[in-house]
Amino acid sequence: MLEARSLTKEYPSGDQRLTVLRDVSFIIPDGARVAIVGPSGSGKTTLLGLLAGLDTPTSGTVLLDGADLSALDEDARARVRGEKVGFVFQSFQLIPSLSARENVQVPLELRGERDAAARATELLGRVGLAGRGHHLPMQLSGGEQQRVAIARAFVNRPKLLFADEPTGNLDAATGHRIIELLDSLNRDAGTTIVLVTHDTALAERTERIIRLRDGAVVSDAPVATAAGAGATA
Ligand SMILES: Nc1ncnc2c1ncn2[C@@H]1O[C@H](COP(=O)(O)OP(=O)(O)O)[C@@H](O)[C@H]1O
Ligand SMILES: [Mg+2]
Repeated sequence: MLEARSLTKEYPSGDQRLTVLRDVSFIIPDGARVAIVGPSGSGKTTLLGLLAGLDTPTSGTVLLDGADLSALDEDARARVRGEKVGFVFQSFQLIPSLSARENVQVPLELRGERDAAARATELLGRVGLAGRGHHLPMQLSGGEQQRVAIARAFVNRPKLLFADEPTGNLDAATGHRIIELLDSLNRDAGTTIVLVTHDTALAERTERIIRLRDGAVVSDAPVATAAGAGATA
């Protein structure tokens, strides 16, 4: 379970304070697929960073799979992230000098796992990139690079996957394939998916949409399944 409790985030702005998130609360059960949507600047990336333990709130708490992130120091939060969290970014953020397989291996090697190469190869197969493991990121298309990034995010079998506009740099068809891939990993591994997107069609493929405006939750509702969203295709 992932819980946000009264999260507020402020930044200093001259002698004022800029409130970026105000009193954000919700509970996301294990295995859920949730979209966070809202206009540019509404606080989506900031919220994802707090939920994933990459950043700390000004007030409020995040409970991530039983861990109260506000009670942990930086090192302990890094450990929780390494064990429980995968993160996918809009800009892929692969290491350019490493091959696809080596990029996927990085989180395993940080944990000192022995069969890192075999596990990385298995994950690349899972995302449809068997045989491309030796290619550098620049030798892959945008959609392929994002699949490598998803393989990397999944390689530690995280309980939760956070994706910040993961299809923002991809054409619509490739974006849909990326979302299908996330859906299949959710189904097969029970991974909770928290997806930030401003693409309504993608948001409606999840089961619940949380809308932010000016840092506050303005609606939080299940996706209407009568329209077939999520169930078809
Ligand atoms: N480190 C920071 N310092 C000051 N302001 C920031 C910082 N990070 C984000 N902001 C501001 O917080 C607001 C929300 O940003 P962000 O979470 O990136 O929104 P979104 O992802 O919805 O576009 C924006 O006004 C942005 O300028
Ligand atoms: Mg953003």
